[in-house]
Order: sequence, then C-alpha cells, then structure tokens
Amino acid sequence: MQALILAGGLGSRLRPLTFTTPKPLLPLVNKPLLLYQIELFRKYGAKEIILSISYLREQISDYFGNGKKYGVKITYALEKKRLGTGGGVKNSEKFIKEKTFISNSDIIADVDLEDMLDFHQKHKSDLTMTLFPVADPSAYGLVKTSKDGRILSFLEKPKFSEITTNTINAGFYLFEPELLNFIPNGVEYSLERELFPQLLKKGKRLFGYIHSGYWQDLGTPEKYLDVSSDILNGRLKYPISGRKKGALIAGKGSKISGNLKIKGKLVCGKNVIVEDDVWINGSVVLGDNCQVGKEAKLADCIIFANTRIKEKVEIENAIIGRDCLIGAYNKIGKETVLNDKSLAR
Ligand code: GDD
Ligand code: MG
Repeated sequence: MQALILAGGLGSRLRPLTFTTPKPLLPLVNKPLLLYQIELFRKYGAKEIILSISYLREQISDYFGNGKKYGVKITYALEKKRLGTGGGVKNSEKFIKEKTFISNSDIIADVDLEDMLDFHQKHKSDLTMTLFPVADPSAYGLVKTSKDGRILSFLEKPKFSEITTNTINAGFYLFEPELLNFIPNGVEYSLERELFPQLLKKGKRLFGYIHSGYWQDLGTPEKYLDVSSDILNGRLKYPISGRKKGALIAGKGSKISGNLKIKGKLVCGKNVIVEDDVWINGSVVLGDNCQVGKEAKLADCIIFANTRIKEKVEIENAIIGRDCLIGAYNKIGKETVLNDKSLAR
C-alpha cells in the first residue's frame, strides 16, 4: 500500500507558531502532528509514504529523513512554489505506482483504512473520500451523496445559506492513479475546488465513505487544544510515553514536586522541572526541558519545549511556543498564542 500526505500548506490559522515551524511538525502531546498520520498508515501496512512538501520543507525532510526510524520508507515530492492540493498530488506522480491513500496532514482520525479499501473495491470506485458529520460545516468541503454513497456534489467552504448537509470531506482519499491524468502539470491546482467537481462532470465514480470514529482537524488554536485534551483524556486512544503516576505522565529526567495539585491531566516531556505548589486544571502538556516555578497555575494549555514559566504565573487556554520566558506574576488569558522565543518579563 502506498500513501501520500499533503504537507505543504502555510498553516496560516496557527500563526505565529507556523512562522517558524511548519504545521506538520507542531507538537501534539509532544509528538509532531505528522507522525500520527505516518503511524496510522504504517499500522495498515504502508511501506512507502510520499510527503508532498513546500512551505518550510527542509525542516520536515530533516526531521523525518528516509523514514527508517519510523518504520517506513519516506519519499519527498518537493514544490519550490506551492502548487495547491491538486498540484501537490500531480507533482508526486512519478512516485505513484498503484491505488494510493492520500490525506491532508492536519487531521487526527482513526479511519479504518482496510474497511475503506473494501468499500472502494466493492463500489468499483475511482475515488473514495472519507466523510464525517460535523455541527458546523462552513469551514470545510461540503459533500452531498446519494443513499448508496455516490457523491453528487462538492461545495468547498460553503456560505451559511448554501449548507444543505452536515457531511464534510474529512481529508482522506483513496485514489486510482488514472485520475492523475485530469490534473494539469506544473500549475497551481486544487483538488477540492477543481479536480473533484471536474471528475463528477466527467462521470467518474466518486463515493463517500462515512467515518464513524474520531475525527478532528487541527486548523485553529481552539481545535489544537481540543485534540490535545482528547488524547490526554483517552477520547482518542494513543499511547503517551513517560512514567504514569495518577493524573501525571512524566518523561525521563523530569523532576516534579510532590505537592503538585492536579484537577485534570498533566503530561510532561523529558527533563521537565515543576516546582512546589503548582496547580494544574484541565489538560496541560509541557514540552521537553520546560520549567514551571512555584505556585504557578496552568489550565488547558500546551507549552512547547524549553519554555520557562516563573513563579505565580497564570496561564489558561493558551498555546505557548518554544524557548519562551514568562516572567513571574504574568497572566496569560484565553486563546492566547505566543510565538517561539517570546519574552514576557
Ligand atoms: N504540497 C502541498 N502544496 N500541500 C498543500 C498545499 C500546497 O500548495 N496547500 C495546502 N496543502 C496541504 C496542507 O498542508 C493540508 O495538509 C492540506 O493540504 C489541506 O490544506 P488546508 O489548508 O489545511 O485546507 P483546509 O483545512 O482549509 O480544507 C481541507 O481540509 C478539510 C478537512 O480538514 C479541504 O480538503 C476541505 O475540503 C476539508 O473539509
Ligand atoms: Mg486543514
């Protein structure tokens, strides 16, 4: 089985974090987002994964290398100029030899790829797309199907008045390689706005496979915090590395004060220091080498690696980048996103 992951987007809704780190490398419970996808494909037997990359691409290829460390072979399709989702797929053509799973890189889902493949074959589908029902589909691609699952229409990012169904494109496709002939070479091209409607017009067999497990995209800070919390609370089952002690999981070399008060869950990376009388509320993740000073209060937040939080700081509902220094008594409020290397003295 081959898989292709589209990982070349700008991640603009997660700025400023994505100015320095490409979205696929943002840490989710101390592991890069893209690794969750790679592990999903590996679980279903993918031997080769093609990464379609553009924005900050060297960081991604430096991190994953040839993939050996992650149990797969990784091949890179590089775009000097961003080509969009369809252009990214076309640019990977030389590596695509068979039926291929294609996915967005900012999705966390436990899609049953074996069942999806069965569905695809049973329906003699040219393209099968995973669909997922959401409460508000306006930020997604809306997909209408007939009762037997055949896709009837697409509408990318619909206006409120255009919403007629709540099933959206969940960003996982199973693609017959012949479809690549419908994508023009070397130009910016969109799967969602151009290829899919075009394939429908040509009478290709497009089917929607309804996913009923966990699904979330990490497009915005709010969703990023939600997914992190879902993993900490086991709503999405992923092993978290570290030593478990009640509501705390701490990585190697961490020194956590014995009188920490946790009303929720705390996950610490390696070599984290948490001083006395710290309060944790909700779901909190601290990256490698973070330090938290006395009497700090942390609630529902993600703190990237190497950040120092001094005494009596209060942080709630926020994402703090790498290598930051948050001086004593600072209060960081709801939905704050701080860039790497921020100083709040
Ligand atoms: N290689 C490459 N080149 N990849 C790209 C490019 C590009 O120029 N532009 C975007 N991508 C990648 C992104 O990295 C991401 O993984 C994926 O393509 C989708 O782009 P997003 O920018 O995240 O799109 P979206 O979230 O607005 O919408 C997409 O995902 C929704 C589900 O989360 C669409 O596929 C929607 O239809 C879908 O509902
Ligand atoms: Mg997205």
